Amino acid sequence: MCGIVGYIGFDDVKEIILGGLEKLEYRGYDSAGIAIVNNNQVYVCKEKGRIAKLRDCLDKNVTGTIGIGHTRWATHGEPNKINSHPHQSSSMRFTLVHNGIIENENELRKKYLNGTNFTSDTDTEVIVQLIEKFVNDGESVELAIRHTMSELEGSYALAILDREDMGTLYAAKNKTPLLAGRGSGFNMIGSDAMAMINHTNSFYEIEDKEFLKITKDSIEIYSIYGNQVMREPYIADIDASDTEKGTYSHYMMKEIEEQPFVIRKIMSEYSDEKGQMCMDSSIIDNVRNCDKLYIIACGTSYHAGLIGKQFFEKISDKPTEVVIASEFIYNMPLLTKNPLFMFISQSGETADCRAVLVKVKEMGYRTLTLTNVKGSTLSRESDNTLLLYAGPEIAVASTKAYTAQIAVLSILSSLVNNKININIFKELSKIAYTMETLCDDKENYKELAEKYLVNSRNCFYIGRSMDYFVCLEASLKLKEISYIQTEGFAAGELKHGTIALIEQNTPVIAVITQECINLNTRSNIKEVKARGAATMVISMRSLSQETDEIVIDDINELLAPLATIIPTQYLAYYAALLKNCDIDKPRNLAKSVTVE
Ligand code: F6R
Repeated sequence: MCGIVGYIGFDDVKEIILGGLEKLEYRGYDSAGIAIVNNNQVYVCKEKGRIAKLRDCLDKNVTGTIGIGHTRWATHGEPNKINSHPHQSSSMRFTLVHNGIIENENELRKKYLNGTNFTSDTDTEVIVQLIEKFVNDGESVELAIRHTMSELEGSYALAILDREDMGTLYAAKNKTPLLAGRGSGFNMIGSDAMAMINHTNSFYEIEDKEFLKITKDSIEIYSIYGNQVMREPYIADIDASDTEKGTYSHYMMKEIEEQPFVIRKIMSEYSDEKGQMCMDSSIIDNVRNCDKLYIIACGTSYHAGLIGKQFFEKISDKPTEVVIASEFIYNMPLLTKNPLFMFISQSGETADCRAVLVKVKEMGYRTLTLTNVKGSTLSRESDNTLLLYAGPEIAVASTKAYTAQIAVLSILSSLVNNKININIFKELSKIAYTMETLCDDKENYKELAEKYLVNSRNCFYIGRSMDYFVCLEASLKLKEISYIQTEGFAAGELKHGTIALIEQNTPVIAVITQECINLNTRSNIKEVKARGAATMVISMRSLSQETDEIVIDDINELLAPLATIIPTQYLAYYAALLKNCDIDKPRNLAKSVTVE
């Protein structure tokens, strides 16, 4: 998954690269490295661990105006200093950083690199050695890079320095995100716009199998065959301050508390001048005209998809199936005659989703992506896009993108066909307000996390119907950042096996927001309590009992997940905080999962 950044210009590159890497750290944080062209030499520093550690190890006296950097999420080779990027060719002429996976590295080693002394266990080293080999064979540097690209199978975003040409930075891309940033007297490349937004807001999108030759004054884009590609840059609509934590100690807390604002922003983005709900009519028609909607997503976005299915079936009367992206290829559902594929992805870069997108496009089906990142791969490659307008989500654990996905899905479903006459905007306005009141109650959630969760090895969330889907997401949040083993269960399923896991003081958190399930879920609470569980209840006011720990003002039952999820996000946050976990960067994870 990894993130890369590069700069060529007039300023000292150290802080520019380190700052860019800090913005990309969400993409992986096993190790990091930097290369700076300094006095006709290439200075390389790399370390296992976070960017902060790299910063400490860097020789403060080294300066330079060209550099590249990398933050790593290990795929090939353990996360140690040797396997960290940058990697250099045997003569040290070429220095390279790579995001992606080279699938045919072994074949390439055998075919071209017999006798080469490899210093790391990475697939990346094959790329840099191959470039050097082709140059030694007499090819120009540009040709050698394009030749190497044509040999590589897999994904890559590359930034390359050549010690013999200190005025050029090379880059290449295939199936892994890369943008080029245009400045005045400098140019940059990076895995995303946020890595460069403090310096420029003008970007070129780079397509697969494109090669870039960048100087401080020019960005030239070429196809793999060497034909120059003319492309206009676009201006990114990101405020540099959106990527800062401000007064918050963690991005996750900031992002939880931004949710009421995000709901209101979505309402304003999807309304016309009269304040009426509206969306691109071709998208509405595509959903209206399909005979079944297939929602494809992973993780939290999959959980939002499960709620989306309820909207499409209950509000629009549209049959909908939700499929985990990584399972689709093996267990493809029987497809109807006229399906529409909807991809839900915060990052728009998730490789599992992209694999499905490629497949269904080959089959000739129509596609739509819901994403938070304009210009992302899934957005570019789908027929249509609906943006989430949640602003940059930096914490690895997704919060505001999840509620944004649900809000956008609710608007779309009611525009497609509002058979239950629900006034979505009225309900969303109410929910934004309810979210604010829930955020005001965070001291309560902190106490509950301390009482029920901090000392627990495991935990269960239980609920029925819409509440069950919230339980799945609530449990993912808690486990991924606090490492408490947590599962979400359909409350009615407990007695069919899971109840065997309940021990003295096992925390069981029940969610109750729908009248039709209230009594049954309450019975399930009694069942686990009788077996020793420490139970906690999150309920809607009209259904609440005096002993319920968290009570949410009455809102529409179908949209209730938008509010119910808030206390559970806080519970996860405080459990992780009290356990001293790294909240924004939980172990083993990365924000943007660009490998299958
Ligand atoms: C969990 C989380 C992940 C992502 C998943 C898909 O908090 O964020 O489960 O939801 O990796 O990512 P996107 O939505 O970018 O496709």
